[in-house]
Amino acid sequence: MLELSGITIRYGPFLAVDGIDLRVDEGEIVGIVGPNGAGKSSLVKAVGGIVKPVAGRIVFRSRDLSDVPVHERISLGISIVPEGRGLFPRMSVEENLLMGGYALKSAEQMAVNIERCFSLFPILAERRMQAAGTLSGGQQQMLAVALGLMSDPKLLVLDEPSLGLAPIVIGEIGRTLRKLRETGLTVLLIEQNARLTCSVAQRIYILADGVVRHHDTADRVMASPELLEHLI
Ligand SMILES: Nc1ncnc2c1ncn2[C@@H]1O[C@H](COP(=O)(O)OP(=O)(O)OP(=O)(O)O)[C@@H](O)[C@H]1O
Ligand SMILES: [Mg+2]
Repeated sequence: MLELSGITIRYGPFLAVDGIDLRVDEGEIVGIVGPNGAGKSSLVKAVGGIVKPVAGRIVFRSRDLSDVPVHERISLGISIVPEGRGLFPRMSVEENLLMGGYALKSAEQMAVNIERCFSLFPILAERRMQAAGTLSGGQQQMLAVALGLMSDPKLLVLDEPSLGLAPIVIGEIGRTLRKLRETGLTVLLIEQNARLTCSVAQRIYILADGVVRHHDTADRVMASPELLEHLI
């Protein structure tokens, strides 16, 4: 579904991502884990069209994205939940979801998608009138995921959903993501938290200093103390 080949990203003279190859198949959850500054968010931005790689190709459902602008990538079915969540803090839960579905064609579709989010995350239904900024950290992250789902994506990209959350809440995020997995959605999950990622994803790419250091199944990464030691 998504294929990156030789993706290279520079900020001026600084080489942030150095020739990365990566693949996500339909229905798969793929994790990218790596420390601070590894180039994870840069890759996310390249997929979203916010950053333009200096070399390499991104192909999504057989379409080369090189000259495809941000809004068109959304209508092709790519939805990105950015680092830091991208919520509208003063708006209610429901208003946030409406914003996420702005490109939907009909009010009926909007209503169907909102109900789907509420059945996936019942706590959001209970809080539908509450300002997003007053939700707990874990609930805000759930809302960010729900907002990302509103556009009916074919691929959901999550940039560090566990960032800044307490360990107990991270467990909740893990449950949220495993629920998503049950829906069969294709997900690219970017994380620093390797255990969380391995509990959700089928395959893992380990990124450091802008290159893929290792690529394996989540089971094998979990079973390898040396690998985990580098990551946690
Ligand atoms: N706009 C920018 N201008 C200059 N350098 C940047 C810019 N954005 C990122 N970088 C640098 O590129 C490298 C990769 O950054 P990136 O944000 O992709 O890493 P990351 O893996 O997402 O890290 P984090 O875990 O902190 O989110 C870092 O060294 C960062 O300082
Ligand atoms: Mg980042």
